[in-house]
Amino acid sequence: MNVTVFNGSPRGRKSNSHLIVEPLLEGAREGGAKTQEVFLVEKDIKQCLGCFHCWGVTPGQCVLTDDMAELMDLYLDSEFVGLATPVYNMYMTGLLKNFTDRFLPLATPHIRRNEDGSFYHEGRTRRFPRQFFIANSGFPGEHNFLVLQAFYEVVKKANPGLVVFELYRNCGEALSVTEEEHPELASRIAAFRAALGTAGREMVVTGQVSQETVQGLHMELISDEEYMAAANRQWDEQLGESDA
Ligand SMILES: Cc1cc2nc3c(=O)[nH]c(=O)nc-3n(C[C@H](O)[C@H](O)[C@H](O)COP(=O)(O)O)c2cc1C
Repeated sequence: MNVTVFNGSPRGRKSNSHLIVEPLLEGAREGGAKTQEVFLVEKDIKQCLGCFHCWGVTPGQCVLTDDMAELMDLYLDSEFVGLATPVYNMYMTGLLKNFTDRFLPLATPHIRRNEDGSFYHEGRTRRFPRQFFIANSGFPGEHNFLVLQAFYEVVKKANPGLVVFELYRNCGEALSVTEEEHPELASRIAAFRAALGTAGREMVVTGQVSQETVQGLHMELISDEEYMAAANRQWDEQLGESDA
């Protein structure tokens, strides 16, 4: 069983997204899966041209030549696919959005209507991998996830059973804190990492992640006030008094 995460952070291997993905994939490996994290920033992924050649001229085939064909194969060969992103302007990064736009060749052109009145395109492939989603925000609180959560509500309604779990991790910049810097926070991060491992294991062993584990993934790492104060202090130190 293959589990693949596409990491859409421009920070790549140094991202908070990676700090979340790493223990999750470790758990998946313990559950018996083969795992891979793809750093999209390291790949050549051109923007979709919107030409619809992949629908009308060369069905299923994009006109662009880049790393996307190889990534599409990896996607289709995976049982579970994760999309990981920092919150950028209340949504996903352009990097991840660009990547997902390039999946157009996997859809067929005709417009179909669902019983609930919504519209869709049928998939070109018999099997799509099941998905999970990981977002981390620089802000505390939940407000910055509202757009992504609304997006996933639509995805889940249109594709029941497709999404295994979603993780909306606030206070993302706290994830790199070390034991020496803040022992209490570091121990909460360790508990968070353990919950990620459990989620990865559960996903590959049972095909789902329990409510209890999902709740654990959303544990408070640091209070809003403490996080805000630490972040502002850091900027003050960097900018000096004149610019603060
Ligand atoms: C261009 C840009 C836009 C951002 N927009 C938001 C935002 O709307 N809400 C938020 O909470 N954080 C925002 N952030 C902060 C990132 O989400 C935060 O730094 C995150 O932890 C980075 O994760 P990464 O290391 O995985 O890239 C933004 C950062 C950048 C560079």
